[in-house]
Amino acid sequence: MTARILDGKAFAARVRGQVAEHVARLKADHGITPGLAVVLVGEDPASEVYVRSKGKMTVEVGMVSVEHKLAASAAQADLLALIHRLNSDPAVHGILVQLPLPDHLDEDLVIDAIDPAKDVDGFHISNVGLLGTGQKSMVPCTPLGCLMMLRDYHGDLTGMDAVVIGRSNIVGKPMAQLLLGDSCTVTIAHSRTRNLPEVVRRADIVVAAVGRPQMVPGDWIKPGATVIDVGINRMDAPEKGEGKTRLVGDVDFDSCVQVAGAITPVPGGVGPMTIACLLANTVTACCRANG
Ligand code: GUN
Repeated sequence: MTARILDGKAFAARVRGQVAEHVARLKADHGITPGLAVVLVGEDPASEVYVRSKGKMTVEVGMVSVEHKLAASAAQADLLALIHRLNSDPAVHGILVQLPLPDHLDEDLVIDAIDPAKDVDGFHISNVGLLGTGQKSMVPCTPLGCLMMLRDYHGDLTGMDAVVIGRSNIVGKPMAQLLLGDSCTVTIAHSRTRNLPEVVRRADIVVAAVGRPQMVPGDWIKPGATVIDVGINRMDAPEKGEGKTRLVGDVDFDSCVQVAGAITPVPGGVGPMTIACLLANTVTACCRANG
């Protein structure tokens, strides 16, 4: 038996459709157009691709997209001044500073300079605390997208054993909080976890977010488990031609698909959900700002 493939591309398109309807209603009924400001520092090619894609989809759902590009050598004071300007701009409802930032900039300080009400990434320390205590917050987009896919497939997650592999602030930790909020029994595993294969084998739900290509093989997966692959890793693909690459996840799809009950592909799984959730968070921020 092979696993059901969870189609994040189609799901994300449905979410974007709902966001577009909401945006149209805000415009028609209240004369408000939600605005998302994205700040990119430097010229990291992967970040440039993400930012372009975010901008395109923001416009597609009818919102205003503003991009601010700063040189890789930008001073921290200039970046903070820009964030303060965006904080006090009533046309900007969401602010996203693309990470990672160049080494000379203090990521924590920059994120915490964003108005928590406009922090559509959910990375501000206030939003982290609100999420951790089960209060209304901005929820980080990638874990939110994973949770939506899990709820869509399983319905109620109560009592399920969930193992999150990876302890990043962006994915692993908030993912664990969200699963706990849905009454899963949650384990956060990471590079120093002992007997990782055994830990993963206990899980009804596995979320892999370690950033290591194809790290999780099929024989770590409990038969019938649901596997959510957050990884986006670029690998050489000589079979596609000289210098060509392909995207792979953190799980070995070909072996896991034979054992799992359901699995997200890469690409076309979690990735598209992240941007859809960013757009949804921007509408949420806009609605909260306007009562
Ligand atoms: N870099 C990689 N993922 C993300 C994300 O979700 N938000 C931001 N701001 N930067 C990222």
